[in-house]
Amino acid sequence: MREIIERVKEKTSIPVYERTVENVLSAILASGDVWKVVDLSEEPLPLVVAVVTALYELGYVTFKDDRVTLTKKGKELVEKYGIGPRADYTCRHCQGKTVELDAFSELLVEFRELTKDRPEPLHEFDQAYVTPETTVARVAFMHSRGDLENKEVFVLGDDDLTSVALMLSGLPKRIAVLDIDERLTKFIERAADEIGYGNIEIFTFDLRKPLPDYALRRFDTFVTDPPETVYAIRSFIGRGIATLKGPGCAGYFGITRRESSIDKWRDIQRVLLNEFNVVITDIIRNFNEYVNWDYVEETRAWRLLPLKVMPGYNWYKSYMFRIQTLEGSKGFEGEITVGQELYDDEESSTT
Ligand SMILES: [Fe+2]
Repeated sequence: MREIIERVKEKTSIPVYERTVENVLSAILASGDVWKVVDLSEEPLPLVVAVVTALYELGYVTFKDDRVTLTKKGKELVEKYGIGPRADYTCRHCQGKTVELDAFSELLVEFRELTKDRPEPLHEFDQAYVTPETTVARVAFMHSRGDLENKEVFVLGDDDLTSVALMLSGLPKRIAVLDIDERLTKFIERAADEIGYGNIEIFTFDLRKPLPDYALRRFDTFVTDPPETVYAIRSFIGRGIATLKGPGCAGYFGITRRESSIDKWRDIQRVLLNEFNVVITDIIRNFNEYVNWDYVEETRAWRLLPLKVMPGYNWYKSYMFRIQTLEGSKGFEGEITVGQELYDDEESSTT
């Protein structure tokens, strides 16, 4: 193990533990598909690549027929450490989302119909949208927490078209939505016309800029899906919190393990607790399932992977966080002073 860890450390500055190697070996025992190995190991993709490459160089794994498999030496290693295949017991009824969509089945049909000509994800804006089931599950989840009915809801960045599902639900009193991409804001405008929903304000806006005064301290609930650097999380979730009226409001956002080590997660949670003074009330594993985007071959993930195989299923998922504000909670209203570092760090791979 020590030799493997030393070899991994030569390849990456992402923290590596014995547990990391164990997670990757366990995932390889369960599947030879590199995307599935990232998915099951729950380690950031660049770290998985570093571990798999170290295992390959040291003769523990081999690449054959587009799959990664253990060699005889690799099998002896997992035997010695008592590592078995990683099991997956995700609930088949709700796909692990913890909410069922029965009450929203009509909404799901309408949402699919309304969004079938949605704009495709653009690499330049780091876009990738979630499945329609995920978007509708967000409505079910947020409603179940009392954060939608007769509430004022702000959607900060909306390639998932959550605002469209919110309009269809008829639950919020008022919706505001912004996105940098005019294709999306135009699309949402047309959807609002089709639905006949009037209480929505739609802005084409670059969230790197400070929000205007009329957006601050006006909302009960926000939803956003930030890029995965600590800086971006601080900026975008902080802006979301800044739109909230005060204590007792809620915010929702996705954070993934695919692009974040648990060390980074700790830093993120520190920002939430120590800087923003909010409380994390829910974290639902793999709630958000993203539809594979067609620019995968242009991403860092593709350049890094030792096997160039297209993902055969939706491997990219994020955990759904819900935070609530208390007395003394505060957001972020300042300028963003960094460039591409907003989107990229050592652990990111989809940009
Ligand atoms: Fe379930």
